[in-house]
Amino acid sequence: MKLIYERSQEGRRASSLPANSLPVPDIPDELRRDQPPRLPEISEPELVRHFTHISTRTFGVDTGFYPLGSCTMKHNPRVNERVVNLPGFRDLHPLQEEDGAQGALEVMWRLQEILAEVAGLPAVSLQPAAGSQGELTGLMLMRAYFADRGEADARTKIVIPDTAHGTNPASVTMAGYEVTPVQTDPRGNIDVDDLRGKVDEHTAGLMLTNPSTLGLFDENIEEITQIFHGAGALMYYDGANLNAVCGISRPGDMGFDIVHFNLHKTFSQPHGGGGPGGGPIAVREHLEPFLPVPAVVRDGDAFRFDFDRPKTIGKVRGYYGPFGVFVRSYAYIRAYGPALREMSEVAVLNANYLLARLKKAFELPFDRLCMHEFVLSARPLKREHGITALDVAKRLMDYDFHPPTVYFPLIVPEALMIEPTETEAKETLDEFVDAMLEIVRDAAERPELLKEAPHDRPVGRVDEVKAAKRAVVRYLFEDHPDLSEETGQARQLEAQKGA
Ligand SMILES: Cc1ncc(COP(=O)(O)O)c(C=O)c1O
Repeated sequence: MKLIYERSQEGRRASSLPANSLPVPDIPDELRRDQPPRLPEISEPELVRHFTHISTRTFGVDTGFYPLGSCTMKHNPRVNERVVNLPGFRDLHPLQEEDGAQGALEVMWRLQEILAEVAGLPAVSLQPAAGSQGELTGLMLMRAYFADRGEADARTKIVIPDTAHGTNPASVTMAGYEVTPVQTDPRGNIDVDDLRGKVDEHTAGLMLTNPSTLGLFDENIEEITQIFHGAGALMYYDGANLNAVCGISRPGDMGFDIVHFNLHKTFSQPHGGGGPGGGPIAVREHLEPFLPVPAVVRDGDAFRFDFDRPKTIGKVRGYYGPFGVFVRSYAYIRAYGPALREMSEVAVLNANYLLARLKKAFELPFDRLCMHEFVLSARPLKREHGITALDVAKRLMDYDFHPPTVYFPLIVPEALMIEPTETEAKETLDEFVDAMLEIVRDAAERPELLKEAPHDRPVGRVDEVKAAKRAVVRYLFEDHPDLSEETGQARQLEAQKGA
């Protein structure tokens, strides 16, 4: 399809405004443009058609099943949009004085209370804007805590399992710590024997996703906690997979000291390019003094910001955090009320249903009941027919399904990581299984069909690495890069999530 610049015709306009009689402001010469900006010139019908057409070429959770493992792409209830668009929330200025923002402050305070209960930890900061920023904030808290005890120089290492999401080691490095990797055992748990040799007086803490990115709950979590707490280190819980355990088990009860939430996943928000995230953290009492400021506190019937935390690490985000995300999450949680655990129970049930129907057709590296997601391997298809996880993922698009996460976690070859979430009906899950089984049959009988997939999408098989690393965002502009020499290079490079 043509770009809007290719549709542009000189002098064409979408609307014409009456001439105005306002004085022309006096703009200093050095601030004036030499040339008018290059903007598309287009009529209104063509403009409307152009963007409407683009909107039909995209895929989202509103157009189809989106089992992107570890990303929790659940339905975003429309009532949440109604609530967040109430004028009292929507039109509120971040600098509104507290007296005029009591409702908003109350929502934030109530959300803090709920998250504390879900985490099993007493103190919450809503500030971080994404899971990864929650991670960095949590590690900065660890640093502040050890500095306060005079141990900052001694404790330099953070232990991370080999199943970890890529943001974990990235956050550790950004926070000035060193990564100590630990292996996974044959049941998909942290290898406790490997761990013992790696935790000592230089360890600041552990970062763990539980259930892990394999969709497995660590069976030795209490022993792991003892090892870290016994060495005076802290436990960090990556809450990206909290959708599996809400209202059932609590990170605080497992021994974790710091938890981040991915509000945009667990409590639904348009995300993945569609909207902002939220990464609040919850901590144990001894870490509360270091939390970012301000916290929202309650004085009788009134709510206010509390900046009075002399040991705070400061602010990690402008103003008070992603407020719209708070309102939607609060609405999602309140819609379940005390039955919040049903959300996780159905998410786990849906995942186990898919796993039971699919496991014989693929390889299952860790044969256990899963939590809210599971990881299959397409290795047998590769061995027998030369079909990779990428081919399976691309072919799924022809069936109107978003592909699962592929090639992650890194320890599973040809990984397909599938997360259905609780908002999918059994019929949808069955249609997905039927498509997967047909793809497995086609891998044996018509492998070229998979190799060239997708066939029915607006964009065919692309070189994903090049598309990400050499994105041409100024197509046909004067500084459009010359990519002619790069054409013809290998097309099938795989972009790895978490790599
Ligand atoms: C296990 C895990 N940890 C951390 C993150 C980072 O979260 P965010 O994307 O909100 O920064 C993700 C995101 O996919 C994840 O899957």
